[in-house]
This record gives sequence, structure tokens and C-alpha cells, in this order.
Amino acid sequence: MTVPVITVDGPGGSGKGTISRMVAQRLGWHMLDSGALYRLVALGALRHGLDLKDEAELADYARQLDADFRPGTSADAEPATLLEGEDVSLELRTETCGNDASRVAALPAVRAALLDRQRAWRDAPGLVADGRDMGTVVFPDAELKIFLTASVEERARRRYKQLKEKGIDGSLAGLLNEIAERDRRDSQRAVAPLVPADDAVVIDTSDLGIGEVVARVGQLCRERLGQEFVEGVG
Ligand code: DC
Repeated sequence: MTVPVITVDGPGGSGKGTISRMVAQRLGWHMLDSGALYRLVALGALRHGLDLKDEAELADYARQLDADFRPGTSADAEPATLLEGEDVSLELRTETCGNDASRVAALPAVRAALLDRQRAWRDAPGLVADGRDMGTVVFPDAELKIFLTASVEERARRRYKQLKEKGIDGSLAGLLNEIAERDRRDSQRAVAPLVPADDAVVIDTSDLGIGEVVARVGQLCRERLGQEFVEGVG
């Protein structure tokens, strides 16, 4: 029997990360944050003095990427992300790193280099995979595909709040421009662009709270997979 996968794709700020983590916790499944892999490649490559445009060199680095994920300490806490043994969780979340990751992610050889590593996360009892191409490229046979969207303005507001909570500086207008630019790059690239899979359920989260989105995904899990959320988690 194949291990079931739920893919959660969408642009940055659509709520993917938070929703994926909460769904994974409620099902007791693993979670893959594929964006973190692209961020790690960008961060590590820069630290090693590599040129972010050198596709072959970056793909080589991506193949050998020394990354590790340690579970968070509280229920909904994000896991710690380690690059070559060092906790880089905070640095990974900066807008600069996100923008560098988006550039690196446009290179086909880098995407190919990370493919097997992502598929290896498919482990019993199940996987919730968060990204841009989880339902289209990495897990096309996923049992349930979700695509989350939200207006650019709402996503900029959420990102601003998120960064502030982490003590990272940013301006709302600057974030809005960066998000629009990142959307354009992620959606228009030749390989694995950000588009919903034909069989994805699209949910616009602009006017929905996190609880409402999680409840909707819970309903889909019940209907499509016969899976019930564990009560009282998170
Ligand atoms: O989800 P995120 O913001 O951490 O992702 C960072 C960048 O990585 C994003 O701009 C596009 C890229 N990415 C991708 O191309 N494919 C994925 N599956 C995940 C992220």
C-alpha cells in the first residue's frame, strides 16, 4: 500500500506553512516544508561563495545539501532547521533569503537535484507536503491536493505581522512589491511553475481565519481519505 500524501501548494503568505503544520499534527503525519530546502540551498550556496546563477554548481550543492529538521518543542511550533549542523531557522525566514530561494528555485537542475530528497519524505503513516509544485510535480499521485490563495495585499499584511513577531524588520509597501515580484517569478518560470494541479481544491483564504481553513481541510480529509483529525492537538 502506498503511503498517503496531502499536498498544500500556493504562494507565500497564503497560510500554507501554518495550515500544513496544523493538519500534519492533527493527523499525526510527517510534514515536508519544501520551501525550506530551496531557502537552505540559497543560504548555503551564498555562505560557500557560490554564484546564484551558476546552475550546475548550485545543483551539485543541492544534491549534497547537509540539512536537518528537528521537531519544535511546543505543539504548533516550527521545527528547527539545521544547515551543516548549525541552526539557521531565523536567517532562513528573512525576505532576502526567500527572494534568493525563489531565484535558485527557477533553475531546472536545482529542482531536479532536490526531487528524490523530497519524495523520500513520504513515510508512514502519511505526509503533508507544503510547497509550490507538490501536487503537480513532486507528488502527482497525492490523495488530496489543496491550493491556497489570498490577495497580494492580505498576504503582505500577514507576512508583515509574521516578521514583526520574529523581531525582523520590514516595510509593508516593500513587502507588497517583493511578494508581487516573487509571485511573478514563481508563476512564470518554465519549470514547475506555481499553478494549481487540475485536481486540486482551491481555497481563497483572504477572508478566512486559520481555524476556518483547517476545518475545511479536515472536512476534505474525512470525505476523501476517511481520515479523522485527532481532537485536542495544537
Ligand atoms: O514557501 P517559501 O516561501 O519558503 O519558498 C521559498 C521559495 O522557494 C519560493 O519563492 C519559491 C521556491 N519554492 C519552489 O519553487 N518550489 C517549492 N516546492 C517550494 C518553494
